[in-house]
Amino acid sequence: RALIVPGGLWRRLDLRAETESTNADATGAARDGEPEGLVVVAEWQDSGRGRLGRRWVSPPGAGLTLSVLLRPGDQAPQRSWPAVPRTRWGWLPLLTGVAVGEAVDRVAGLHATLKWPNDVLVRQPQPGGAMGRGAEGKCAGVLAEVAADAVVVGVGLNVTTRADELPPTDGLPATSLRLAGSSSADRDPLLRALLRGLAGWYGRWRAASGDAEECGLLAAYRGACATIDRMVSVQVPGGGAVTGRARTVDADGQLVIRREDGTEARVSAGDVLHVR
Ligand code: BTN
Repeated sequence: RALIVPGGLWRRLDLRAETESTNADATGAARDGEPEGLVVVAEWQDSGRGRLGRRWVSPPGAGLTLSVLLRPGDQAPQRSWPAVPRTRWGWLPLLTGVAVGEAVDRVAGLHATLKWPNDVLVRQPQPGGAMGRGAEGKCAGVLAEVAADAVVVGVGLNVTTRADELPPTDGLPATSLRLAGSSSADRDPLLRALLRGLAGWYGRWRAASGDAEECGLLAAYRGACATIDRMVSVQVPGGGAVTGRARTVDADGQLVIRREDGTEARVSAGDVLHVR
């Protein structure tokens, strides 16, 4: 396939008409010892997984549903990549969100932003064709899972999905690129741009031993993140919530929140139940 470049990161493309979940396929392959660089793409998932136990549903032909298998903890001497310590693997879903946003910008001609940690948002046109900025909707989500020393990162992107077929989201309205006014409804160029961009960011991040600041990922993430400078309420396990203004995202990918009383809290993506 044209997506597989000899010597590139993506070594094997597994295209499936129907599967349970591409994340389940790729984590299964990881447990069976599959090397880094597998891409599983499915037209339909019987039980697509979303974050926090939600489901991800995408009608056949309407979206991109894929997972990639990465092994950031392995050294790759042929590429001069050191092993990335586990404490930095949490950047992978954020890195993927950046790559999805850039592919949407480039191919769909929209302006994608990120809701921390890794929801991809686009603005929908105003109802009734009114001028001005429409409401933001989630067009894509990312789900990372660790299995057998590998990281599987799954992406669900709504391309031509109709309003009544969108997957459930957490509060935020869902949308598709077409509903948001995309000029292109073709999935192939999106997939190609996404895999190329993802391989680029992953390679730079690996070469920098996972240091998001050094490889430019932190700056790219901050530039795309719509959560920064907004009022947020982040629900954390145990029933508590941290409420305040999101100041920035730090070098560990944590959201830095300034509470009204001036104190600061840092929340890591793995601990978040809801962000509003
Ligand atoms: C979210 O809840 O925002 C994350 C959604 C991730 C869905 C994708 S679709 C491809 C991959 N396989 C799955 O089972 N889930 C992810």
